[in-house]
Amino acid sequence: MPNKIEMNNLSQVYYVRSGESSKKSAFYALKDFTLSVRDGEFVVVVGPSGCGKSTLLGILSGLFKANSGSIAIDGETVEGPALDRGFVMQSYALFPWRTIRKNIEFGLEIKKIPRKERGAISGAYIDLVGLNGFENRYPHELSGGMKQRVAIARALAYDPKVLLMDEPFAAVDAQTREKLQDELIRIWKKTNKTIIFVTHNIEEAVALADRVVVMTENPGTIKEIVPIDLPRPRVSVGTGVSERYSIFVNKIWGLLHNEEESFESAKL
Ligand SMILES: Nc1ncnc2c1ncn2[C@@H]1O[C@H](COP(=O)(O)OP(=O)(O)OP(=O)(O)O)[C@@H](O)[C@H]1O
Ligand SMILES: [Mg+2]
Repeated sequence: MPNKIEMNNLSQVYYVRSGESSKKSAFYALKDFTLSVRDGEFVVVVGPSGCGKSTLLGILSGLFKANSGSIAIDGETVEGPALDRGFVMQSYALFPWRTIRKNIEFGLEIKKIPRKERGAISGAYIDLVGLNGFENRYPHELSGGMKQRVAIARALAYDPKVLLMDEPFAAVDAQTREKLQDELIRIWKKTNKTIIFVTHNIEEAVALADRVVVMTENPGTIKEIVPIDLPRPRVSVGTGVSERYSIFVNKIWGLLHNEEESFESAKL
């Protein structure tokens, strides 16, 4: 399979004051981040708070530019935002003046899809994320989890090839989270999208990923990439969880807590 995304030596440095001194020092939110993602691959990024995960997705989306390094999607250098990428941000970033339905139809309007077709597509995604009956409300009238579901529906509705998702299920309850994870896998399989998904939840990472990218902080860079060669569908909760699934969870937990030596990678 050809590579869909090539990230080459991405670095993002901020000059920040440390301590009492007025002198600023360099802080690497991202350093020498290099990763190739295959077409149709599901990559999950985990790492401690502040290690540069949102920075990475912001750069991939084109919303801001890295200090150095480059990104190419399908061989074309990313210069700014475009409809080939859908972005579900950590904060929902809905348009407050638009209803739920109109939020979901935003990308479709830009793509100049006729009104009737827009209505059918937004209807299908409202259904998918379980927001029937709420389509004419405004974002401030929804709960946090519901807003997040609108953001997911909006990103999926205009059918981007690459989906960037920054902790998309963090604000929803455990039951909805599982349902959305299953739906995401179903959509991913059906549409063959390439997904880069950020989470703090190790079980979620192992449930979803083809590969888990474990990051370190300061500088934010790749510590290890763990391929998850578990068959799907994967059971991530309850009594059906397999032994190998738990080994992967432990391995990643160990990497995040600098205890990788105590886990036998060979077992994987
Ligand atoms: N404008 C800025 N000026 C200085 N530092 C910044 C700026 N924006 C982000 N940072 C720093 O860059 C680092 C990476 O931030 P980022 O939001 O990418 O982290 P994250 O991995 O997404 O964290 P979280 O898991 O908490 O969402 C953080 O330490 C943050 O303080
Ligand atoms: Mg973040």
